[in-house]
Amino acid sequence: MKTQVAIIGSGPAGLLLGALLHQAGIDNVIIEQRSQDYVLARIRAGVLEQGTVSMLDALGLGTRMHAEGLVHDGIELAFGGARHRIDLYGLTAQASGVGQRVMVYGQTEVTRDLMQARATHQLPTIYQADAVTLHEFDGNKPQVTWVRDGVTQTLQCDYIAGCDGFHGVARETVQSRIQVFERVYPFGWLGVLSDTPPVSHELIYANHTRGFALCSMRSHTRSRYYIQCALEDRVEQWSDQAFWDELRRRLDPEAAENLVVGPSIEKSIAPLRSFVAEPMRFGRLFLAGDAAHIVPPTGAKGLNLAASDVRYLAHALIAHYRDRTDQGLNDYSAKALRRVWKAVRFSWWMTSMMHRFPDTGTFGQRVQEAELDYLVQSRPAAMALAENYVGLPFEDDALK
Ligand code: APR
Ligand code: PHB
Repeated sequence: MKTQVAIIGSGPAGLLLGALLHQAGIDNVIIEQRSQDYVLARIRAGVLEQGTVSMLDALGLGTRMHAEGLVHDGIELAFGGARHRIDLYGLTAQASGVGQRVMVYGQTEVTRDLMQARATHQLPTIYQADAVTLHEFDGNKPQVTWVRDGVTQTLQCDYIAGCDGFHGVARETVQSRIQVFERVYPFGWLGVLSDTPPVSHELIYANHTRGFALCSMRSHTRSRYYIQCALEDRVEQWSDQAFWDELRRRLDPEAAENLVVGPSIEKSIAPLRSFVAEPMRFGRLFLAGDAAHIVPPTGAKGLNLAASDVRYLAHALIAHYRDRTDQGLNDYSAKALRRVWKAVRFSWWMTSMMHRFPDTGTFGQRVQEAELDYLVQSRPAAMALAENYVGLPFEDDALK
C-alpha cells in the first residue's frame, strides 16, 4: 500500500489534517488503533475558537455546527458570591477592531462531521490497527506497519503525521530525541454530562474556597459540568447527588438556585497536566495535537491547538507538493510551538487563578481574589483574557 501522507490517529488532529490534505488533492491514509465507535463515544471538550470554526467552514463542513452549535459572546467568572461577565465580543472588538466569539459545539460532534466527510469521499481509514510502528522517517522512504486480523500490513509514504494523542506511538518512537516540559497539577476534574438545561446561557467558571467549578453545555437541553476533585478520588465514590450538592455549593446563590439536576449520562475524572515535547519534527515525521502537547482544560485550548498545528502542517505539505518548497516544513516545529506555548501559558494561568491549590494556603487564596477582582475592574486585564480565550491569530492568515 502507498500514499503521500500517513496519518496516525483519527482524533480531531488526524481527521482535520486528512480533510485539509484531501481538499488540496494530497492522498492520505489514517491508521487508528481503536474502532470508529470507540472514538465517537469519547466525551471531550466543547469550545471552538473562531479560527477553528473558520477551518471547518473552509472545508465545507460547518453546516451542522452552525445549525446546532451555540455562539457565545461572553463567559462568566463566579467568585465571592457573585458573577462577573467577560464580554469576549466587545473586548476583542476594542482590542483589535474585530469582535470575536466562540462556538460551543462538542468535540465528539466535530469528530463525527469529519468522519462523515471522510466516508463520503471514500478516503481510507484503517481502524483497529494493532502494533502500529513507524519506520525510516529519517530517510526518504518512511513506512508505517500495523497488524490487523493477525496480518501485518505496510504503508509506504512520503511523510508521517503523528496525530495519535498523548498516549500514542509517534512521540514514543522519538523519545530519546525530545525535550519535555511538564507540570502536573495536584487535582483532577470530575465531569458530568446530563440531559438538563444549562444553568446559565453562558459558561460559568467559578473560583470557590471548596474548589473550582465549571458550568458548560452541549445544547439547550444538555449540560456539561465539572468540579475540581482530589487526584485520588474515584468516580464510583461520587453519586449523582453528591456531585450536584458539591457543584451547588461552589456556585453563586443565583446559579445555585437555578441549577436543574438530573441523572448523569456520563461521569469521569481527568487529571490536569501541562506538557510540551520539543521539537515537533523528526525528519519526515511531524507531531501534531495531543501527541506533542497537553494543556489543562481550563482555557478550552486542547482541541483548538490541535487544529492550529494541523493548519500549519497542511499548509507546509501543500507548499511542498504544489510549489516544491520545503520552507514551511522546515519552519513547522518552531512556528507551531510559538502558538502552543502561548496557549500553554494561558491555560496554566487560568488554572492557577481558578483552582484551590493544596500548598499555597490563605496567601494564595488572597492573591487569587485580588487577581479576579483586578480582571473584572480593569478593561486591559479583561481584554488580555478575552483575546486569549477566543484564540490568538494564526501567523499566516491565508495559504499563499
Ligand atoms: N496507533 C494508532 N492510533 C493511535 C495510537 C496508536 N498507537 N495511539 C492512540 N491512537 C489514536 C487514539 O485512539 C485517538 O483516536 O489517536 C487518536 C488521538 O486523538 P486525540 O487523543 O483526540 O488527540 P488529538 O487528535 O490531538 O485531539 C486534540 O484536544 O480537547 C483536546 O485532549 C483533547 O482529544 C483532544 C485533543
Ligand atoms: C466543556 O464544555 O467540556 C468545556 C468547556 C470549557 C472548558 C473546558 C471544557 O474550559
